Amino acid sequence: MTLSELKKKYLDFFKSKEHAIVPSASLIPDNDPTALFINSGMHPLVPYLLGQPHPAGKRLADVQKCIRTGDIEDVGDNTHLTFFEMLGNWSLGDYFKKEAIEWSFEFLTGKEWLNIPISKLAVTVFEGEEGIPRDEFSAGVWEKLGMPKDSIFFMPREDNWWGPAGQTGPCGPDSEMFFVFDKPDCSPKCRPGCKCGKYVEIWNDVFMEFNKNAEGKYVPLVQQNIDTGMGVERTVVVLSGKNNVYEIDEFQAIFRKIEEISGKKYVDFQKSFRIIGDHIRSSTFILGDQKGISPSNVDQGYILRRLIRRASRHGKLLGITEPFLGRLAVIVIDLYSNDYAELKQNKDRVILELEKEEQKFLETLEKGLKEFEKLLKTGPEHTIDGKTAFDLFGTYGFPLEMTRELAMEKGMNVDETAFWEAYKAHQELSRAGAEQKFKGGLADHSEISTKYHTATHLLHKALRMTLGNHVEQRGSNITQERMRFDFSHPTKMTPDEIKKVEDIVNEAIKRDMPVSWKEMTVPEAKAEGAIGLFEEKYGNQVKVYTMGDFSKEICGGPHVEHTGTLGTFKIAKEEACSAGVRRIKAVLT
Ligand code: SER
Repeated sequence: MTLSELKKKYLDFFKSKEHAIVPSASLIPDNDPTALFINSGMHPLVPYLLGQPHPAGKRLADVQKCIRTGDIEDVGDNTHLTFFEMLGNWSLGDYFKKEAIEWSFEFLTGKEWLNIPISKLAVTVFEGEEGIPRDEFSAGVWEKLGMPKDSIFFMPREDNWWGPAGQTGPCGPDSEMFFVFDKPDCSPKCRPGCKCGKYVEIWNDVFMEFNKNAEGKYVPLVQQNIDTGMGVERTVVVLSGKNNVYEIDEFQAIFRKIEEISGKKYVDFQKSFRIIGDHIRSSTFILGDQKGISPSNVDQGYILRRLIRRASRHGKLLGITEPFLGRLAVIVIDLYSNDYAELKQNKDRVILELEKEEQKFLETLEKGLKEFEKLLKTGPEHTIDGKTAFDLFGTYGFPLEMTRELAMEKGMNVDETAFWEAYKAHQELSRAGAEQKFKGGLADHSEISTKYHTATHLLHKALRMTLGNHVEQRGSNITQERMRFDFSHPTKMTPDEIKKVEDIVNEAIKRDMPVSWKEMTVPEAKAEGAIGLFEEKYGNQVKVYTMGDFSKEICGGPHVEHTGTLGTFKIAKEEACSAGVRRIKAVLT
């Protein structure tokens, strides 16, 4: 099975179920300031999932090009890619769970389709939680189709819930499908989600019936939608019995070319070959996109620059001294231009931009590496300070991740917080904002909000410890970039007080305290010494969140499970808000 065969089968199948085939959207999102790149099939369809009519109708299927750079450091292992294609079928308020599951089953097991034996499949469904019932319905549909009961697993939100793609938007419980490998040595408790490799997810049917709003509430959507996603590369690997994603023909073709240019063999330099192969594919697609991004120091351009320079550096490790990425891009374009006409149209531009960027980088790479060598004299276990890391970026064009990679190869660290401080001063961008953006991938956003939310509790307590028990929360506001916390206090905080508060919070983070909650009445909460807003609006029962022995506060949640995941807390600003109320802006890095 090849990528093209899988894509064709999938689209043919859904055409036979009266779906309109729609083209892939651009990799650059429209009207979504929270994301640099399209990261899933549903992402460009958000307005239609929210109820706007789609010109092609209520049943759609497509192959969407996607970029996820959140795990860029893992590229080179057996599974991670920064560019991938995702197959999807969509119901915009048309069919729902029953048909979606029946068609998934038919496509996976049907003789003329993927023809996977039922014994090689397992599925998961949502186990339910307060307010959202256990998905007995979907389990029932799977069972009726012939899935044995012991191949249907009920799983919690962390496994069986998808979305929203950003901080807000459509989302819902899902049912995931797994290819089952033989792993007789794993424990009897092994189930989907186990890392042993027995269960590999190949498809996800999301039952999108909620919209997460700005207050974090899940409100029913105006229509019930289906959003499904099947990763093309991964599914081909699984179905063709290959060991890893780089064994697909497309990567092999790129590797043959790298062997020809470098005179080195893939088997001897696997990691560098894989990084170059992955990064040239994503760079070619970004440069060749309808919206044509160029390398730069901000936003999508920075990600692109990072991809090109990292590929170029690994080329150097293979002994290549001339720009070579343009020659590889030609292969990528040839392989993909049948499906993506824009690549052919933008071919000259792609090659020119790659050559320009590589040339520029090669001019400074040598000197930059010499500068880096000097740092080695300070010995291993040395931390490269932020200014030096920023100079390597500013003067020699080393993206932070490259300095980190070089440092790690020598057993050294980089003070990344200080790097982002310097970057911020330079770019007039907030550090957390810049860093968050470059991490890419929308999935992080709700996670970062949750972290900030937990940090407000730690800050609240630290302020009371430092300034006194008159401190009470007056308001709070969280974005992906920072938290804002208003509290009662009559005077400006001194630098010492600010430092003390930061230290207390960071100490509380370091202690990695467990976070838990209990429901109780307001008088019980008061008796337990909980702080927080004891207002009527909470009703009779309130939730009390406890963080180790440090903080106890009335709150609706959500919070992280352990304080240790928050990172480093820093107060960016302390100012007057209104009479007797101060305002703190703080970041986690
Ligand atoms: N949105 C879901 C995913 O990305 C299904 O398409 O997995």
